[in-house]
Parts: sequence; structure tokens; C-alpha cells
Amino acid sequence: MVTRNVTVIGLQWGDEGKGKVVDALASSCKYVVRYCGGANAGHTVNVGDERYALHLIPCGILHQGVVNVVGNGVAFDPGVALKEIQDLRDRGVTVGSENLRISSAANVVMPYHKLQDSLSEAALGAEKIGTTARGIGPCYADKANRATAVRVAELADGEVLRGKIRRIVEMKNKVFAALYQAQPLDADAVCQEYAEYGRKLAPMICNTGELLRRACAGGDRILFEGGQGSMLDIDHGTYPFVTSSSVTACGVPTGAGVPPSAVGDVLGVMKAYTSRVGSGPFPTEQDNPVGSYLRERGREYGTTTGRARRCGWLDAVAVRYAAELSGVTELALSLLDVLTGLDEVKICVGYEVDGRRLESFEPSVMGQAKCIYESLRGWKEELGGCRDSADLPARARRYVRRVEQLIGRRISLISVGADRDKTILRRSRIKGIG
Ligand code: IMP
Repeated sequence: MVTRNVTVIGLQWGDEGKGKVVDALASSCKYVVRYCGGANAGHTVNVGDERYALHLIPCGILHQGVVNVVGNGVAFDPGVALKEIQDLRDRGVTVGSENLRISSAANVVMPYHKLQDSLSEAALGAEKIGTTARGIGPCYADKANRATAVRVAELADGEVLRGKIRRIVEMKNKVFAALYQAQPLDADAVCQEYAEYGRKLAPMICNTGELLRRACAGGDRILFEGGQGSMLDIDHGTYPFVTSSSVTACGVPTGAGVPPSAVGDVLGVMKAYTSRVGSGPFPTEQDNPVGSYLRERGREYGTTTGRARRCGWLDAVAVRYAAELSGVTELALSLLDVLTGLDEVKICVGYEVDGRRLESFEPSVMGQAKCIYESLRGWKEELGGCRDSADLPARARRYVRRVEQLIGRRISLISVGADRDKTILRRSRIKGIG
């Protein structure tokens, strides 16, 4: 029997704990593939006493025999990738063309993208998006613009690259000077830097779509590793306070170059509460002692930027919306242990907007939504030692059951701590869990 592929995505505003879930499944897969986002992501994996924070390199890199792929849909920052590769090697992790492949069709994040991201955010003032300043939005904007885009394949040819970068930098300098009175970038320095990146990365660059389609045909199992979270999706999230790529499971075929049938089982990762970094609507936000409690217990500070995350109650309506969008087949519930110690735990089950009750998530009106909550009794027991659902206190089990009912899907994995073994695996049709 052919084992189905699996897609792991975030069902909230990112930082749901996807890294740990991908790590749990990676050894049962031949390929682990990033298909969206870029170095704005921060996937954390704890192995024993070692903590790895990965931004661009798929989490499968920590597993022997797994081929990791950066797909064409990724905004690829070669400087960040090379630093990450070096850091991994320094810690004894093997990284080479045998276990890391980078799509020749991925778009490259250039220094002017990062500069534009920061300048634009500063100019927006109170209306800023609150980006990670990694140049993600400007890179995807140039991808859509075509004439000002640089693809990974172009890093290989120094001459062509030089001509193109000179032309683009000259144009960007004029725009930045006019709009932001910015100092010009040195085109030659940019050319040199990126040609060097091209030389170093050359052995890993290939047509990854072809590679993955062949893998599908040969029955090799693939894990697609989502970045960010569904509510940050460029089309379906809380626009304009979103990221600039398709981060749901719908982004897999275009972002990896595989047919939709390759998506396989979709495992949606959700926190037992909600967090968000940056600006934008967040109906269940608790800007009060409950929010602070969640932030401190959950160590809710950004892996990529170090920013304090906004925290609040679980929004079951938002998660159900995200699960429906991606055709989620099973759920992974993370950070359940963080809720320990609260007298009551609340779940948002609907909204009120302009005096009218709303049962579904409508991104455009979430800024005006007042939450309708259901309250459950909290528990005092620490959960870090639980390895089976039966080990959970009755009130935590009730919370898990209620979440399953509200989202309409089974929870097949529960995380009760950052370490690999602090995990409860339940019945599942996904190989590697069940
Ligand atoms: P950008 O992706 O850097 O353009 O940022 C756009 C929005 O997405 C901001 O609110 C960021 O905080 C958020 N964001 C981007 N990547 C992540 C992530 O990996 N986790 C959580 N939030 C993210």
C-alpha cells in the first residue's frame, strides 16, 4: 500500500508549534518540503538539550535519510540560508546536496527588499503591518512584477546576474530616494555578494518540482511543511495584516510544483489558545493578566524577531474556518500545558458584529467583532508528564473533547511541552502518529 503524503499547516496566526509536529513525522518521510514564506518563519525543534530554531531550512534536516526541499514558492534569502547551514554544520548536523535541495525557480530576497520592508513600515507609522522586516512582501511583489525579480537559477551566472542587479538597483535607488530620502545601495557590492552566494549554493540548486513529481510517481512519501498560519494567508487571512504568500494547504501545489493530489492528509496544528505577532485584528486577544499569563508560561516571544506576542483565548470559529479552507483531516493541539493554573478557560464560539450574531469567520469584519465565549473550568495539574490521554486531568480531557466538537475534527496529537517526548499520540490514519 502506498503511504499517503502529509501536509502540516498552522491554523491560527503562526507560531502554533509546527516545528515539533514536523519533527515528529519527518523520519517516516523521504522528503520534507517548504512551499511558502521565507526567513520570516521560525520553526523550533528541541532535541534533548539542544534547541534548533530553523527559518529557511526544513525541519527534516535533523533526520538522517530525509531530503529537504526549499520549493519554488519560497522567498529565498541565500545569506540567511548559508548562515543556517553553517550553524547546523557547526553543531554536527550534515547538510549538503544529498539532503538539501533548493528550487532554481524560487525568488531571491535581495538587500533592497529588506530595506524597502523597513522603510515602508516606518513610513506607515501607526498603520504599519508589523512585518518581520525580512523583505518578504517586497520580494513577492517583485515576483508578481516579473521584470524586477531575481530567481535562484540566475545566481549561477555571474555576468547575467550583474547586468540585471545593476539595472534593478539603479531603479530602486531612485524610488527609495524619492519616497524615503534613503541612501543609495551599492549595486556592485550587491552583485558580488549574491554571485558568491550562487557559487556556494550551486550544488544544491535544481528543478525541485521535477524531483518531487518523480518522488510522487515512485511512491516516496513527502511531508509539506507550512509556514506562518492560515489567518496570515495572502488571500484568506485578515488582509491587509497578513504575509504575502499562500500558506494554507492550497499553496502546496503551486509552491512545490506538484499536483493537488500530492497534498495527502492535512494535519492542522493549533495552539490550545491563540497568539499573534504584528498588527491586525485578533478578536480573542487578552490585553490583561490572562494574556500576560499565557505569554510567560508559553514563552511567547518571536523565534525570528524576539517580539512579544499578543496572546488570548482559543478562537474555535477562526480555527474551524482555517480547517475548512485547507481540508484538514486531523488536528494537532499544542501547548495544552500552558493553560494549567487558570481557574477558567474560555473558547470563542461566535461573534457579535454591529448587533448581529456571526457564527463564521469573516476576515474583513474581525476588527469590529465582539467574542461570544463558552467557559470551561480550568485545572491545576502540570501536564508535562502525561503520555496518554488517560493521564490528563478530567478537566483538560473535557477541554480537548470540546475543541474537537467545535472544530469538527479529531485531535490525534497533543503536545504538553517543548521536548520531543512530551507528546501524546492518539488514534490516527497518518503514518508516524497512529
Ligand atoms: P511578513 O511576513 O514579514 O511580511 O509579516 C507580515 C505579518 O505576518 C506580520 O504580522 C508578521 O508578524 C506575521 N508573520 C510572518 N511570519 C510569521 C511567522 O512565521 N509566525 C508568526 N507571524 C508571522
